[in-house]
Amino acid sequence: HGTSRINQAGHLEIGGVDTADIVSQYGTPVYVYDVELIRKRARQFKQAFQNENVKAQVAYASKAFSSVAMFQLVEEEGLSLDVVSAGELYTALKAGFPPEKIHFHGNNKSEEELKLALEAGIGCIVIDNFYEIHLISGIAKEANQSVPVLLRVTPGVEAHTHDYITTGQEDSKFGFDLQNGQIERAIEMVLGDKGFHLLGVHCHIGSQIFDGAGFVLAAEKIFKKIKEWKESFGFVPTVVNLGGGFGIRYTSEDEPLHPASYVEQMIQAVKTQSQLLGINLPEIWIEPGRSLVGDAGTTLYTIGSRKEVPNIREYIAVDGGMSDNIRPALYQAKYEAALANRMNDACNKEVSIAGKCCESGDMLLWDIELPETAAGDILAVFCTGAYGYSMANNYNRIARPPVVFAENGEAQLVIKRETYEDMLKLDLPLKAKVR
Ligand code: LLP
Repeated sequence: HGTSRINQAGHLEIGGVDTADIVSQYGTPVYVYDVELIRKRARQFKQAFQNENVKAQVAYASKAFSSVAMFQLVEEEGLSLDVVSAGELYTALKAGFPPEKIHFHGNNKSEEELKLALEAGIGCIVIDNFYEIHLISGIAKEANQSVPVLLRVTPGVEAHTHDYITTGQEDSKFGFDLQNGQIERAIEMVLGDKGFHLLGVHCHIGSQIFDGAGFVLAAEKIFKKIKEWKESFGFVPTVVNLGGGFGIRYTSEDEPLHPASYVEQMIQAVKTQSQLLGINLPEIWIEPGRSLVGDAGTTLYTIGSRKEVPNIREYIAVDGGMSDNIRPALYQAKYEAALANRMNDACNKEVSIAGKCCESGDMLLWDIELPETAAGDILAVFCTGAYGYSMANNYNRIARPPVVFAENGEAQLVIKRETYEDMLKLDLPLKAKVR
């Protein structure tokens, strides 16, 4: 997919760059992004709204992968940005991202984080709870500001891949309940406070979702409430944010929709509901993370040791693991892989790929077909662009890998490899004993 292809040398090429060249220049492990594919995904989402002439904001959920260069790319593509911490916000501001296009999320934003957001002139705060209403109200009053806000609701729809469950009352740490008067109380508080400019409501029903039904159902549940709000206190949202969660194809077992299909189903649902209520079509906002960057990322590793457990399996170890991709260990996530330096060799050997961290759970792939491998071969693990680098860690004091952007035959380093000195930067030696 994307610009990935096999070149004449039988090597994997990404963005027109031979992965062997990336490895010789930057070493392994290394994350490589197909920048053109990120742009393509961004345009697919935007285009789907333009085709239907619907006012929209597509906000990239930066938790999937954030860096200064990534934020600059997001801005180039004209998307908005969803951040969930002062760290992500700070990075966005340093990247020169326009603050008025940033949306601030999170279920426990601190006063310090909220102050930073207000000072920056944030585009929108997605309010999660009553404590936050109280905090923002105080900060806004002091600064004599009126903050654009959405209220996050839990619509009682929880979706994952092909399944979704609906409950009257969702048991979730996020947002205001839709069913027991919480959201009405929140709306009244916010409407009655000059510190807020209430734009509308937000919901997020899950991640790695393969069909549109959950989004449609969430929209229907929200509009049922909008009908009541309109009648009881005349509040009609100008923005309905339906969150992120659009699935991607990690393996051939995954069958996600085209990005445009999710959007089309949302638009139809919101149009139908708005017509039924006789209200203007609200702006529709979405927050894709995984679906913008997931399949654009590939991790390259060098193969090292191996162990054969006779009659059971062969373990092949790579020079990374749960420190750069915790998803298999954490969620039993499945990936596909290939030998980047021998793409045309027949896959005739079943092996399992182990990481180098000191625990048995550090396995990247189980029972995959590869050619006969040797130490020094380059293993490419596909679709690692979302929640890979962003969830990377220093377990076992393993340094985090660099990130390379490849586009039009050029590779550029956008995050350097962490060094041992970087890891020691925050350490302080034990004080000398005073006797
Ligand atoms: N908006 C909100 C409010 C969210 O909580 C999330 C993800 C998104 C948008 C973006 O969802 P996406 O389009 O990326 O599915 N670490 C997990 C995924 C956690 C997602 C949390 N929230 C993983 O690696 O699968």
